[in-house]
Amino acid sequence: MIHYPGSLVFVAFGGSVLSDVLYDKVRAVELRDGAVHLLDQRVLPGTIRYEVCTTARAVAEAITAMVVRGAPAIGVTAAYGAVLAVKAAYEKAPNRWRREAAADLALLRLSRPTAVNLAWALDVMERVMAEGGEENPLERVEAAARRLHADDIAANRRMGAYGAALLPPKARVLTHCNTGALATGGFGTALGVVRSAAADRGIAMVYADETRPWLQGARLTAWELIEEGLPVTLLADSAAAALLRTGTIQAVLVGADRIAANGDTANKIGTYGLAVLARHHGVPFYVVAPLSTIDRHCPDGLSIPIEERSPQELLQCQGISHSPATAKAWNPVFDVTPASLIDALITEGGVVERPSTRTIEKLFAAKKR
Ligand code: MRU
Repeated sequence: MIHYPGSLVFVAFGGSVLSDVLYDKVRAVELRDGAVHLLDQRVLPGTIRYEVCTTARAVAEAITAMVVRGAPAIGVTAAYGAVLAVKAAYEKAPNRWRREAAADLALLRLSRPTAVNLAWALDVMERVMAEGGEENPLERVEAAARRLHADDIAANRRMGAYGAALLPPKARVLTHCNTGALATGGFGTALGVVRSAAADRGIAMVYADETRPWLQGARLTAWELIEEGLPVTLLADSAAAALLRTGTIQAVLVGADRIAANGDTANKIGTYGLAVLARHHGVPFYVVAPLSTIDRHCPDGLSIPIEERSPQELLQCQGISHSPATAKAWNPVFDVTPASLIDALITEGGVVERPSTRTIEKLFAAKKR
C-alpha cells in the first residue's frame, strides 16, 4: 500500500498540477497493457493505489469488493473485464472462444446486483462477440469496450449541460453518495451537472451527505470537489432535513443505479428519504443518469433487486468496531424512490419531467428517430 500524505494527487498523477479538470485526469478504470487498472476507491482519499486485474475473475472480484463502484463505472469495468475474458478464451481455444468465455461473463454478471449498467454493458459486449466469424476477435471486442467508455463520458457531458440549465445562477445544491468522475467513465452524472453549472453560471455551494456506511460522500465527493476548487460542505446524512428546512438548498441532485420503466429509481441508501424531504420542503429533486441506467424490463421499483451487504460495514467504520460485537445490523445499500417524488430525470437524451412509463417510452422513441 502506498501512502501519499499531503499532496496525494500531485504525486499520484505524475506530478502534474491539478487544475479545474480533475475529471479529465482521474479515471476510475482504464484498460492498459493487457490489464484493467482500477483506482482503489476503498482507500481514497488517504491512499492512492491501483488494483491491476489481469483476468476477468479478478475484475469480478474487484467489483464485488467495491474497488470500483458507481453504476456507470461498474458497467465500463465489466466491459473491459469481458475483453480479458475473450483474450484468455481465444488464447486457450481459438475454435470455440465464445463458449470458453461464457463462464467469465457469467461471473462478471453476478458481481453486483443492483446497478443495471453492469448487465447492460455485458449485453453490449455479448452482441459484439456474436458478430464476425472465427478470426481473432480481440481487436473489435476491445474497440467496442473503449467506445462504450467514451460514450459514457460524452453522455455525462450532455447531461451536465441539460442539468445546469435547470439550476439558478450560483446555485446551492444538495447531493448524496458519489456520482462524479470516480463513479462513471469520467465527468459524472449528478456531479457532472455540478461541474457544468460551475463552469457556466457558478455554484455557490455543494452540500454533500457523508453517505453512511461507506462514506462515498465524505471520502470521494468531497475529494473530487476540493481537488477542483469547487465549494463543498459535508453533512451527516441525518442533518439533511434540518438543512432543507433552512431554505438554503435550491435543488437536490442524485444519480441512479437502476431506473424502472415507470421512473421508480434505485440509488444509494438514503436517497428515498431525501426525496421525501425535498418534496416536503418544496425543493426540486432531480435524478441524473444515462439511458443505460434505465431498465425497461423492470416495470417498477418493486422488481429492482436491492443489494444487502455485510453487517460489518455498519458495525465498523474503516475497520474499527464501534458497536457491540453481537449487535445485529441491517445493511441494504440502495433504496427505491417512487417516480412521483422525482421532479425530473436528466438523461443524455433529454430531460423528462415527472417521469412515468409514458414519458420514458417517449424518450426512447425520440432516440430511435
Ligand atoms: O454502492 P455504490 O457506491 O456503487 O453506489 C453508487 C451510487 O448509488 C451512485 O449514486 C450511483 O451509482 C450513481 S453514480 C453515477
